[in-house]
Amino acid sequence: MRILISGAGGLVGTALRARAAESPHALTFLARSECDVTDPAQRNEALRRHRPDAVLFCAARTAVDACASDPSAEAVNVTAPIAWAAEVETWLLSSNFVFGGAGPHAPAARLAPAGVYADQKARAEAGVLAAGGHVARVGWVYGPGGRTFGSTLAARLRAGETVRALHDVLVQPTWSPDLAEALLGMPRGVHHHIGRGEASWYGFALAVQARIGRGAVVPVRLAELGLTEPRPRDARLAPATLAPWWERVEDLVATT
Ligand SMILES: NC(=O)c1ccc[n+]([C@@H]2O[C@H](COP(=O)([O-])OP(=O)(O)OC[C@H]3O[C@@H](n4cnc5c(N)ncnc54)[C@H](OP(=O)(O)O)[C@@H]3O)[C@@H](O)[C@H]2O)c1
Repeated sequence: MRILISGAGGLVGTALRARAAESPHALTFLARSECDVTDPAQRNEALRRHRPDAVLFCAARTAVDACASDPSAEAVNVTAPIAWAAEVETWLLSSNFVFGGAGPHAPAARLAPAGVYADQKARAEAGVLAAGGHVARVGWVYGPGGRTFGSTLAARLRAGETVRALHDVLVQPTWSPDLAEALLGMPRGVHHHIGRGEASWYGFALAVQARIGRGAVVPVRLAELGLTEPRPRDARLAPATLAPWWERVEDLVATT
């Protein structure tokens, strides 16, 4: 397949790029600077030039609180993936945040998004599926690239920082290279791509700190962070099929 990857400058896009040479597919990567997915003219030009069979739609506004305060987030998180899905077979990267209540949630479980970002992802899922596309739900990705807790943790600890980490939210950390490999299987329908091990970010960070031997980790509660948008405390996904995080701590320390 010829696969176009939007939002390719982000964490997941970086992991997909690293797998390009081994992939049986021909991958084209378009970062935001190369294609703004919200601009119909840039979309049409990208589809005309690259003639993809499929799009892995990784472009998104992922800063959860900013999605509530910035009306432009709707365009990239909802309007754009639905518009692309009308033109080409599209795999939407979605989020475990579409679920409410205690997990683990199966792919066909009822959605109950809380908050603007979660609601945007749920509406994008519905629109992309209605257009004949597919949904790849992910959560708590860590690995090289990007600006998330899981991609900057090792470097911060190595620099001797004291890192605050949530201890009252259950997560299934997912190693981005494993995620990339699973995504490139291009399974049709609605699928979960998630690591098998469970932890709090605090437990995860302690294991990384123990391996690095520098910096410090202190536990913090969700309520202490002063976040404006709700976050699920247990949005675990099932089935969890990718490697557990404790098998990837060495890789994280070696590559970030
Ligand atoms: N990482 C996780 O833990 C996680 C968890 C659940 C779901 N997801 C989903 O997985 C997908 C990929 O996430 P990620 O971790 O790779 O996020 P990311 O690191 O924030 O990457 C998203 C990329 O999209 C780009 N982008 C934003 N607006 C765009 C636009 N108008 N046109 C083109 N590109 C645009 C961003 O560019 P700028 O940086 O320049 O804005 C960024 O490079 C997203 O759909 C996200 O919701 C991720």
